[in-house]
Amino acid sequence: MSKSFYITTPIYYVNDVPHIGHSYTTLACDVLARYKRARGYDVFFLTGTDEHGQKVEKAAIAQGETPLELADRVMKRFESLWEKLNITNTDFIRTTQERHKVGVQHLFKKLLDQGDIYLGAYEDWYCTPCETFWTENQLMNGCCPDCGRPTEKLKEESYFFRMSKFQEPLLKHIEENPNFIQPTSRRNEILSFIREGLRDLSISRTSFSWGIPVPGNEKHIVYVWFDALTNYITALTYPHDDNGNFSKFWPVDVHVIGKDILRFHTIYWPTFLMAAGIPLPKKVFAHGWWTVEGKKMSKSLRNVVEPNMLVDKYGVDPIRYFLLREVPFGLDGDFSHAALIHRINSDLANDLGNLVSRSSAMVNKYFKGTLPAPGENGPEDEDMIAAFEKGIAAIDNHLDAMAFNKALQVIWELINKANKYIDATQPWALAKQEDQKERLGTVLYNLLEAIRLTALLVAPFMPDTGKNILAILGTESDDVTLEGNDGWGGLKPGSSVEKAKPLFPRIEE
Ligand code: ME8
Repeated sequence: MSKSFYITTPIYYVNDVPHIGHSYTTLACDVLARYKRARGYDVFFLTGTDEHGQKVEKAAIAQGETPLELADRVMKRFESLWEKLNITNTDFIRTTQERHKVGVQHLFKKLLDQGDIYLGAYEDWYCTPCETFWTENQLMNGCCPDCGRPTEKLKEESYFFRMSKFQEPLLKHIEENPNFIQPTSRRNEILSFIREGLRDLSISRTSFSWGIPVPGNEKHIVYVWFDALTNYITALTYPHDDNGNFSKFWPVDVHVIGKDILRFHTIYWPTFLMAAGIPLPKKVFAHGWWTVEGKKMSKSLRNVVEPNMLVDKYGVDPIRYFLLREVPFGLDGDFSHAALIHRINSDLANDLGNLVSRSSAMVNKYFKGTLPAPGENGPEDEDMIAAFEKGIAAIDNHLDAMAFNKALQVIWELINKANKYIDATQPWALAKQEDQKERLGTVLYNLLEAIRLTALLVAPFMPDTGKNILAILGTESDDVTLEGNDGWGGLKPGSSVEKAKPLFPRIEE
């Protein structure tokens, strides 16, 4: 049986257009999905859009559209951006789809029938942007403690989920599974929040109508977070498991989210699942937030970084590289054009680009573009081979821990190792000595082998670059499989090596 791997992004609200924040989460998932595929896993990679709720309804009214018209229009922008960023999602779920509605209503009814959802009444302070109720005590100067915006007092008949009942089991689960919430600082934050006590959760609304009707009481619609979170299983055709995906891929390996929606994913969602008797996610990883040139991204500051524009200007691979290289996943980061240009010129054009162009040029100059067969390896060769072996194992561990920047650091250490290998072995000097022809062949073979492995390792981050390099080396460029291909000696002597054009043009600052 093949190994399976299930990874998800949040489903994005359609009242906003996609920006680098959304792109960041989706890219991180794509890198991991590609890496796991290259390691032989059967991967299900889910993204989608969150299309219900008052926020979307209000945005639609403001723009003179129906909510569904708005959703149709905006989801296409997400879809086309993911195409542009070379995202390989398996599925794209929309919460307005029938398959989703069926699953949400099933889950709601199940919890209602077993008494974990009950009908009550509600009076509290509601923050519409966050779609969250707060008690008087939780407010900060009358405003939402999360986003700081004004709240309004709402009284509603409402269904409640008995979240309080699951406080202890949830605490126990988090304590017993140190990897469940990551990074650790976030885990601690959630632990102390739960220890303060969980209240039952209002799980339906009657004050507006854009949502999934509560089964058996259509005056109510299902609370948007109950609706949204359930996407992670409805996309696998819960509850019917029509295509076997639910039994194959659940529990999910990792929900990747921004730190803003941690509570929903580590308190609400696991308690819904516990109540339903469904296994909990293996991991929830909350990454940090991007600011732009030192400031919070916001429409009013007109500093929202538009990923389409970035890709048009710099190319897709440099953007993919930059976002995952610049900031440790889990910490906040700042986007600046200067930092991006620096990374492109130094890491991509200099380190990687030059390695490939120098090396392919030497094979062309000294061996007419035909890859020589290697002879005996010496200490310099063994040293580089050992570094790659060690590096490849380290990268695997870093990616399992979602430490994308560390994985890239290791890849760049290997690139630098190969660059230093050129300086140490001096192929141009060997070329001048007739009796060093075999040694020169060994050096260039090893150098190109280092580049082949580098191409496989960078491919999850920079898919076009990985393929371009493999094409230069004359190997099957569509196959970026690491499993079974990551040992030394994969290149076939005699294959033709192209003289590479620069992979990354330098950007003038
Ligand atoms: O919260 N930096 O959707 P959303 C980094 N529909 N990441 C950012 C970011 C920034 N400045 N801004 C946004 C929702 N993100 C719900 C989710 S899931 C069942 C429902 C990313 O459109 C980050 O991943 O507001 C964050 O969690 C997500 O966008 C929020 O997207």
